[in-house]
Amino acid sequence: MAALFQTKLIVVLLALVLSSATIAQELEVDELLSLRREKLARFRLYLHEIFDGSNATLAYAAHGNATNLVFGTVSVLNDILALGPEASSKVVGRAQALSAIASQTESALTMIMNFVFTDGKFNGSVLTIAGRNNLNLKVRELPIVGGTGAFRYARGYVRTSTIFINQINKTALAEYNVSVLHY
Ligand SMILES: *[C@@H]1O[C@H](CO)[C@@H](O)[C@H](O)[C@H]1NC(C)=O
Ligand SMILES: *[C@@H]1O[C@H](CO)[C@@H](O)[C@H](O)[C@H]1NC(C)=O
Ligand SMILES: *[C@@H]1O[C@H](CO)[C@@H](O)[C@H](O)[C@H]1NC(C)=O
Ligand SMILES: *[C@@H]1O[C@H](CO)[C@@H](O)[C@H](O)[C@H]1NC(C)=O
Ligand SMILES: *[C@@H]1O[C@H](CO)[C@@H](O)[C@H](O)[C@H]1NC(C)=O
Repeated sequence: MAALFQTKLIVVLLALVLSSATIAQELEVDELLSLRREKLARFRLYLHEIFDGSNATLAYAAHGNATNLVFGTVSVLNDILALGPEASSKVVGRAQALSAIASQTESALTMIMNFVFTDGKFNGSVLTIAGRNNLNLKVRELPIVGGTGAFRYARGYVRTSTIFINQINKTALAEYNVSVLHY
């Protein structure tokens, strides 16, 4: 009870000090969130990528000059985020990422990625993933570091696998199992 009162007091004091209507409103939202219980959501998403051609969702932005050609490669993604693996699966947004091959010995990406939801249950929210994606492993785990909207204060992890890379039609498919704690 005392802790709750203190928290309320701090929130009220902060609101007074900052004395901006918008910020006070945001704090009220935060205060409401603190009364809610954190919940665990688990769901699966598929990233549909076109890695070459005029409709490519992958762009190479820079490369290193080392003898090992891949080290230093920087790429940008705007992959389709869908509920299923088929081309006809419901699209719920985009997976936008910046990634770099940051190892001389492995095809390991250091990446930051946003799942930008534009449809479905999480429409308007963004889930942010940042971590190491070692492409040599069948299953990779990356941390969820935060988000916006439904994913404010989010934390958790994703487990991802490449399902196929098709060199003929230049498409790739990856599966993402998401486990996220959020309010
Ligand atoms: C790119 O997408 C457009 C629109 O969907 C389509 O008409 C075109 O054939 C595609 N181009 C390639 C190379 O797949
Ligand atoms: C990479 O570029 C740097 C700076 O221009 C140069 O000193 C170095 O020799 C280059 N390395 C290779 C492997 O070309
Ligand atoms: C998603 O949210 C945007 C912005 O609030 C809204 O314009 C759009 O209609 C929504 N889309 C769906 C499919 O609900
Ligand atoms: C995702 O979850 C499904 C169902 O539990 C499982 O079959 C699949 O192997 C998981 N994928 C990854 C990359 O962990
Ligand atoms: C490309 O090939 C894969 C099979 O490897 C298939 O599932 C996918 O639908 C194809 N995509 C296009 C756009 O033809």
